[in-house]
Amino acid sequence: MCGIVGILSNKEVTPTILDVLKKLEYRGYDSAGIATIYNNNIKRQRAKGKIENLIKLINQNDLPGKIGIGHTRWATHGIPSEDNAHPHHVGSVVGVHNGIIENFREIKEELSQKGYKFYSETDTEVIIQLCSYFNKQGLNNKDAFLKTIKRLEGAFAICLMFKDDEKKLYVTKRSAPLVIGYGESDIYVGSDAVSLTNLINKVIFLDEDDVAIISQKETEIYNRIGQKIKRKKKSVEFNNEVINKGNFQHFMLKEIYEQPEVFTYATSSFINFKQQKIDMIHKFNEFDHINRIILVACGTAFYACSVAKYWFEKYVKVPVEIDVASEFRYRDNSFGKNEYAIFVSQSGETADTLAALRKVKGKVKKIISIVNVIESSIARESDFILPIKAGPEIGVASTKAFTAQLAVLACLTIYFSNRRGLLSKKENSELIDSLVSTPRIMSKILSKTESYKGFAKKLMKSKNALFLGRGILYPLALEAALKLKEISYIHAEGYPSGELKHGPIALVDENMPVICFAPYNDLFEKTISNVEEVLARNGNVLLITDEKGYCSLSSHEFPIIKLPKFSNFIEPIIYAIPSQLIAYYTALFKGTDIDQPRNLAKSVTVE
Ligand code: G6P
Repeated sequence: MCGIVGILSNKEVTPTILDVLKKLEYRGYDSAGIATIYNNNIKRQRAKGKIENLIKLINQNDLPGKIGIGHTRWATHGIPSEDNAHPHHVGSVVGVHNGIIENFREIKEELSQKGYKFYSETDTEVIIQLCSYFNKQGLNNKDAFLKTIKRLEGAFAICLMFKDDEKKLYVTKRSAPLVIGYGESDIYVGSDAVSLTNLINKVIFLDEDDVAIISQKETEIYNRIGQKIKRKKKSVEFNNEVINKGNFQHFMLKEIYEQPEVFTYATSSFINFKQQKIDMIHKFNEFDHINRIILVACGTAFYACSVAKYWFEKYVKVPVEIDVASEFRYRDNSFGKNEYAIFVSQSGETADTLAALRKVKGKVKKIISIVNVIESSIARESDFILPIKAGPEIGVASTKAFTAQLAVLACLTIYFSNRRGLLSKKENSELIDSLVSTPRIMSKILSKTESYKGFAKKLMKSKNALFLGRGILYPLALEAALKLKEISYIHAEGYPSGELKHGPIALVDENMPVICFAPYNDLFEKTISNVEEVLARNGNVLLITDEKGYCSLSSHEFPIIKLPKFSNFIEPIIYAIPSQLIAYYTALFKGTDIDQPRNLAKSVTVE
């Protein structure tokens, strides 16, 4: 995590660094800092907390310079404090870093024995200390930088400057994102290209272990064996309007309300209305021989994979394995040549998901990625990219990316099912029609939010909550619990309704809110039996069902939210909306920081 930026310009850089840092704040907001070089002196300001605090500081103390670097931190080593804030500065070297230096203790020990004193608890400081040490040993800036990087183990994106060199930025990356962007006359380095919107028109995406020494005249790039190489500059286009809150109080709310449109957009690349079928940009030639699909992701994206497991098993009749990437990457798992591995990631940069992808490379038939950022590392390292086209998602808690991931996975399900000849013409049309109807149903739910607000006013007083779902709604119970935890800090657990009696029912009393997802499907009656069990123990039930479910209930003497009519296939997509609304309004009434909840970050580029 952490966001880094560097700028080489003919004008003052501090205001632009602050603007870019604001856009990178989704990557962490524990502290922020900027360093510039001015008249061969390193100038630096750092502040604990959000970028606002840094802005206040800089308003009081000017930070001049036409070259500079900035950082917004998500703490890994050392508490959020000014001492631990980047940029770190030792001797004539100053730098920012995103990632984790795994062998930092070893290097720290060595340097300490040589008499070096460390002022912070960070792993980053060892990079700067080591580079400064090599500098003092007589190595020029470039050689000191190269020798430093050779010693580093772990994942990192680094940007350094040297006091005696006002004209160059020194950067490198390994398993962490970094782009170099080119504007009319200025050059930028950033953790992502979107943060450089309006500033650049061309980018270079560095490869793993590339080192770049950037000046106005030239961008020298060296590969991992030290050969000077060329990397292609690519044109970039940005859609500017999307990165503001519009009339919404929070990005999260805006993104919740964007879902009908995003869903339409996500499915429009796949639905061929004329022929009433799902088309894919890729041919998936090997699919006929595929005997297993592996789905891997983290966080909310993992719950999208969990839904897809139910879809693929039901409609494609293929064995499916799912796992969270942080487990998958270290398990003694085996793979077969006739398997597809699918990696789902909004950012396309999540370190664990990327590592999991690299683990299966060459061992499975093909790697498919479902991503929002198509220039991301996960996308670039996969065989087929299926974009979700959700537009930038700024709220740390994922909403529109989740339903857009489900949109793509639903299309893939129908496509694969047809490839296996498992759908009749009628079934195929029904499934496609249900996807087409989804945005309308989402809009209908979003147009009436009173009952969610009413429920949230009660829920905000609770310390715990249970979410229950059966079958394909079980992953939604998990996702709803995650959403609530993330932004309202209420402890919540998702459970398969049938498992309630094996433990969690012990927690049920009049203080325990139990939110139950009960669409009218084959499992409806069983779910209602579980609800009865909760009611019998004075539990505080909120039942979310649909028209049919509502009508078939014998008692309406507990809170019920009635959703409009929709087909079974899209149940998990539709139930995402109530899950998000409950979490959002609960957090709103509690007054928490909804878009940037404590301790979290949007793009998790550390293990
Ligand atoms: C973080 C975010 C979640 C997200 C997860 C996976 O934990 O806070 O919202 O679901 O990372 O991110 P990805 O970019 O891989 O989908």
